[in-house]
Amino acid sequence: MDARRSSALEALGVTAYVPRRGPAGAAAAQAPATAAPALMDWTALAATVRECTLCGLCATRTQTVFGTGDVGARLMVIGEAPGADEDRQGEPFVGRAGQLLNSMLKAAGFSREQVYIANVLKCRPPNNRDPATEETDRCLPYLLRQIELVNPTVILCVGRIAAQRLLERDDPLVRMRGRIHRLGDTPVVVTYHPAYLLRSPTEKRKSWEDLKLAMGVLASGDGA
Ligand code: URA
Repeated sequence: MDARRSSALEALGVTAYVPRRGPAGAAAAQAPATAAPALMDWTALAATVRECTLCGLCATRTQTVFGTGDVGARLMVIGEAPGADEDRQGEPFVGRAGQLLNSMLKAAGFSREQVYIANVLKCRPPNNRDPATEETDRCLPYLLRQIELVNPTVILCVGRIAAQRLLERDDPLVRMRGRIHRLGDTPVVVTYHPAYLLRSPTEKRKSWEDLKLAMGVLASGDGA
């Protein structure tokens, strides 16, 4: 492949170019060229997620749930996966857990529109089962690119699964909350999932402590 074609493909985010002819080409041509989310802008990323068929969840979703809010937000909230309401409406955290999340954000001085909200998975797992490792492996590059593009001052990760997958840890939530982690340079605060808080309202106090920790990071500018 000549250099001009190679750099044009790179500009389109195509990192794995599969030749259509040649000895290895016949088998390789079966595999589609892979566009790397890491190189995409918002428009390309949203379109790619919308059409994504990288895992089996595409067969059961109503639609993908990309993310919502201010793409320049200082606070980014990351949840696990869409539920039934989100799958229907195409927006994260719009059900009962979402209403509680909105209240938590409001208590911290933010409207929903002032933060950016996304999930680890962009499609609903059937019956709200836990995401499979293969599903999060396939989907995580989308979220990582969203984080890069938003470039938040702090990430608030809600729930054990989102925190484990984002931070690549196996710890229970109680061991991850209450302190500041790092994703690259970005501070990450972990707290209870609002759906859990609906079932265990006495834990809301601890969640408020976590939110205050995140607000402290925002106030200090970089959480160092
Ligand atoms: N729970 C999540 O983790 N994300 C949503 O979008 C809704 C419920």
